[in-house]
Amino acid sequence: MATVTIKHVTKSFGDNVVLKEFNETFQEGEFITLLGPSGCGKTTMLRIIAGFEKPTSGELYIDNQLVSGGKTFIPPEKRSIGMVFQSYAVWPHMNVFDNVAYPLRIKKASKAQIKESVERVLGIVHLSQFADRFPNQLSGGQQQRVALARALVAAPKLLLLDEPLSNLDAKLRESMRFEIKEIQRETGITVVYVTHDQTEAMAMSDRVFLINRGVVQQSGTPEEIYNHPANQFVADFLGKVDFFKGEVKNGRIELAGMNGQAISYDGPRSGKVDVAVRPENLYFTPQGELEGMLEAQYYLGDVDDCRVRVGDVLVRVIANGYEYAELKKGQKVRLGVRSIMVFEDDGQLEQLLKIQT
Ligand SMILES: Nc1ncnc2c1ncn2[C@@H]1O[C@H](COP(=O)(O)OP(=O)(O)OP(=O)(O)O)[C@@H](O)[C@H]1O
Ligand SMILES: [Mg+2]
Repeated sequence: MATVTIKHVTKSFGDNVVLKEFNETFQEGEFITLLGPSGCGKTTMLRIIAGFEKPTSGELYIDNQLVSGGKTFIPPEKRSIGMVFQSYAVWPHMNVFDNVAYPLRIKKASKAQIKESVERVLGIVHLSQFADRFPNQLSGGQQQRVALARALVAAPKLLLLDEPLSNLDAKLRESMRFEIKEIQRETGITVVYVTHDQTEAMAMSDRVFLINRGVVQQSGTPEEIYNHPANQFVADFLGKVDFFKGEVKNGRIELAGMNGQAISYDGPRSGKVDVAVRPENLYFTPQGELEGMLEAQYYLGDVDDCRVRVGDVLVRVIANGYEYAELKKGQKVRLGVRSIMVFEDDGQLEQLLKIQT
């Protein structure tokens, strides 16, 4: 169990600043996720914690011991960290058992201890029956699980995982999520997990750090960042959302392009605003505040994905089938609004949502 303290960490490659002023403490036993679009700096942060990369400025502490910063640099092998990297490497000349046993052999563990520990972690990652196979006889997902088992076997106090489930199919991915979370709960190790998959982040984490262009946009529990996003980028990245321009007038927000139609609002903002609406927070009801025309409906099994034209604007509604079973394409409908998120219109929306390439 370890704490990780990051103080004013900035990282540049040449002129390219990829992490700006990262400041945070990860507590003992916390499951932390670094989430964000491709290229935002997640792997770089993880490599700095591991010691494969030095920060350009700032300091990094593990358990209050300075490991990177100033003239100090503790190399990766002295940091007691287990890791699985995005391009996981398993040794091709060793079978699964020996790959996983490797960290314990380095530590000079006894034969019996190695057998017990390796068998236990292979069970956890569902690879017991593959112990004698070589990596070239395994699928990508199986190799990834070998890498995970190897990271776990030495019972590290800190585990760094960089997209460790990216090669698994949807079902296995979901069950491994659960397994990793269980392992973490049982052992109480601190985990720093990297993913660009928001569902994965929400399902596993105690706290999520959402990063864009090297800057932490918001950190908090999954509920906090989903329901109370700090800005438009956070609202957009977590789940489905549509943005509308609007203006607060007499306790209502008049939405642009909707023929003067407005929705109720009792929040603190005034003047021009960006309104973010999650399509699952709109529903069909004769008493709805907005009037439009049902333009399209797509059957998705558990729900229906609908498009409603309100004035000049096409609005997305995710509804339970029974809610609109009676409705036909081309028909007039009314929409109720369960909740909205309202941000100051600072004119930066498009810029903010553009992903760094
Ligand atoms: N060694 C390097 N030299 C130069 N630039 C680098 C180096 N490593 C990373 N970068 C740049 O730093 C930025 C952040 O990269 P990083 O690998 O941290 O992104 P990421 O968030 O992990 O993305 P992904 O989800 O695609 O893995 C990118 O623009 C990348 O091109
Ligand atoms: Mg990466």
